[in-house]
Amino acid sequence: MKFQGVKIAGTGSYVPEKVLTNEDLSEIVDTSDEWIFTRTGIKERHIAADDQFTSDLSSEAAKEALENAGIKAEDLQLIIVATLSPDKTFPNTASLVQNKIGAPNAACFSMEAGCTGFVYGLEVGAGMIASGLYKNALIIGAEKLSSVVDWTDRTTCVLFGDGAGAAILTATDVENNKYLGSDLGSNGEQHDILHIPGGGCAVPFSQEAKDQKLLTLQMNGKEVFKHAVNGMSVSAKKALDQSGLSIDEIDWVVAHQANVRIINAVGQKVGVPTEKVYINVDRFGNTSAASVPIAFNEMRQKGLLKRGQKILFVAFGGGLTWGASVVEY
Ligand code: UT7
Repeated sequence: MKFQGVKIAGTGSYVPEKVLTNEDLSEIVDTSDEWIFTRTGIKERHIAADDQFTSDLSSEAAKEALENAGIKAEDLQLIIVATLSPDKTFPNTASLVQNKIGAPNAACFSMEAGCTGFVYGLEVGAGMIASGLYKNALIIGAEKLSSVVDWTDRTTCVLFGDGAGAAILTATDVENNKYLGSDLGSNGEQHDILHIPGGGCAVPFSQEAKDQKLLTLQMNGKEVFKHAVNGMSVSAKKALDQSGLSIDEIDWVVAHQANVRIINAVGQKVGVPTEKVYINVDRFGNTSAASVPIAFNEMRQKGLLKRGQKILFVAFGGGLTWGASVVEY
């Protein structure tokens, strides 16, 4: 084995066509555009069609990322899909994506680290490439959260949206490594402040579980808010330390898009000016594992990213999990 460096060679994203605005939501539950926007910064989110699944959203994002990287699906040796809303509990969604995009040479697995999924996926993919055994990896964060949200619960259903984002990681010489630092963590003691209680072996699917609303997402918003601000700030600082860079040397912070108030609080704690923090939660809501790669790809599409810039990814989610990574684009 010969150790290798890693770089992001391309990105892609996809959100479904249908847009659900705050006004639309106020016809479904007792809420208002004013409440949602003031508390979260969200104006609208995209919702997948009934016959459009996480693997479909993933495949569209993957195709754009492959094109952007200039490599063929056959050249992929690894596909990781981070998601908490897989097409099926088994088999894994990455294998379904492999089939849809035609990538027969890829090892495939899905992973679940809540909204931190993409940042965890980057770390796993980068580590596997660094081992010298893989050259091209496709890392996807994708969700059809509309399928796991309780549409009668105004405290959660207004927050989430569907979508997918992807990045192609490729091997480079060790001297040209662009994966500069990272930090991942978890606090399982708080596993039940943001979770879907049923559908697994602890509370299998049943009509009773459905009636008791155990098959949809439940959250203690206030608690999650506090942990999110703290977890993301600490993790961002640790990843920066690891990279040897100061926050002033970072060109862009791409944070998990859960709530603009959380993102701003993290920015303040880490000491980054607001103009370096990208925000698109207003148009997509919280797309969990998809939010960081959707934001990153949108920045590329808008021409905001230049090769050589230093990027700080940071995310937080159920588990609890958190993570940050520093890359040179
Ligand atoms: O990806 C990571 C996962 N999630 C997050 O990061 C979310 C973290 N948490 C949050 O972003 C915030 O806690 C929320 C946006 C979820 C809630 O904001 P908040 O400022 O913590 O509001 P709250 O839960 O304290 O609710 C305040 C009031 C309550 O009414 P009372 O008890 O004061 O009369 C709620 O019942 O707002 C009410 N409320 C609503 N009103 C209108 C809750 N949801 C809604 C709603 N529309 N959708």
